[in-house]
Amino acid sequence: METSCDLMLFGASGDLAQRKLFPALYQLDRAGLLAPESRILAIARRDTAAEAFREALLVKLEALVRAGEFDRELAGRFVARVDYLRLDFTDTDGFLALNAWRNPGNHLIVYMATPPGMYGVIARNLRAQGCCTERTRVVVEKPIGHDLESSRVINDELAEVYHESQLFRIDHYLGKETVQNLIALRFANNLFASQWDQNHISHVEITVAESMGIEGRWGYFDQAGQIRDMIQNHLLQLLCLIAMDPPADLSADSIRDEKVKVLKALKRITPDIMEQYVVRGQYTAGTSNGQSVPGYLEEESADKSSETETFVALKVEIDNWRWSGVPFYIRTGKRMPEKMSQIIIHFKPAPHYIFDPDQKHLANNKLIIRLQPDEGMALKILTKDQGLDKGMRLRQGPLELTFSETFDTDRIPDAYERLLWEVMRGNQYLFVRRDEVEYAWRWVDQVIRNWHESGEPPKRYAAGTWGPVASIAMITRDGRSWYEDV
Ligand code: BG6
Repeated sequence: METSCDLMLFGASGDLAQRKLFPALYQLDRAGLLAPESRILAIARRDTAAEAFREALLVKLEALVRAGEFDRELAGRFVARVDYLRLDFTDTDGFLALNAWRNPGNHLIVYMATPPGMYGVIARNLRAQGCCTERTRVVVEKPIGHDLESSRVINDELAEVYHESQLFRIDHYLGKETVQNLIALRFANNLFASQWDQNHISHVEITVAESMGIEGRWGYFDQAGQIRDMIQNHLLQLLCLIAMDPPADLSADSIRDEKVKVLKALKRITPDIMEQYVVRGQYTAGTSNGQSVPGYLEEESADKSSETETFVALKVEIDNWRWSGVPFYIRTGKRMPEKMSQIIIHFKPAPHYIFDPDQKHLANNKLIIRLQPDEGMALKILTKDQGLDKGMRLRQGPLELTFSETFDTDRIPDAYERLLWEVMRGNQYLFVRRDEVEYAWRWVDQVIRNWHESGEPPKRYAAGTWGPVASIAMITRDGRSWYEDV
């Protein structure tokens, strides 16, 4: 497969490009996956010379790449592939310079690491220079809009210039190894495949917790809030991978068709059930990793009257045959006690219970899938406690698979390495199709609309805790609790 390419990186001096994309490209180069002829054009508004850009990039790479993985000579060769163009993205004539750089015989990858409001204008200006042939692939980042309507505008602008098969919409969670593992776990192990429905599963939990607050990006975050920033994309993608039917094959559209079916089947959260199904929270001052930290409203450049949520917990139901009656409890928040993402599948207990009644609460298997950190999974099973005096007392213990130990992997690639590599290979299966984005917005919009109509402020929670008590009450009402073994 031909993977050599010319990569135009719009927004090259921004945070995403500097912190994630260049280190990922360096790692691909280190792994021998960046074809020798591949070249990178860094494009930004900043007035700087190419040489100065390369020098600064080298310093940045050294700071960001893990010590044992930074090779000065290789990094020097890598930055030598990078050229720099100062460009105002709205200046149509300025795009002429792209023609001089580009090799029309090569695949062209256009990466828009810019605010989504720029996607349309960049695409139109590229078209004027003929950068829209079949050999062009375009990568765009979230957020695709802030609601269904604005996402349609952005998608329409892109569709004016590029065919859907050329568009690679990033949800970086899909690039995480452990997230791709959900596909292997579900569809390569018949053991699970045959148990994966309402006959055998009582409920599912998904937690994506971050210990960070909103450092340095209050303005952006306050416009979005946790539901747009995390639920509309990352958590709904995780939920789709857990809930979807088996695809016919691993092709991009087979997988995406199945995900869309889940999104279409999400039960709408109407105003009358909001209180039982949704909790939104905002952190106040507290403690994080032993340090006192300010509340959301006390962060730098905060608007003290903001009612934006930094935490959301939802009870999600999927109206289809497979999942009828199986709630998915999902929660995500900033300033939680630790950075941790995990999915827990709670299996139903055996139909007839014969052990000590006081141990009945133990009697269901759980599959714990740890996405980060400490990537792996554990299947909690019940065995007999050892010892003559124990009779038939039960105990619950894990069948444990920690990826780093079991497979002796020295490093797990960053999501962006995988995603960039798949773009180079022209494989869309880890990217989000237009209809997925739009169905996700349709569902999330309704929740946001309900919030606005109710006028209810977010519930407060102290930084360093697991969110408002109402999120505990939400699951306790159903006779369950958040899995505490974190
Ligand atoms: C981003 C959100 O998409 O994902 C951030 O905009 C969030 O707010 C980040 O911090 C979390 O990603 P990860 O890979 O660190 O879990």
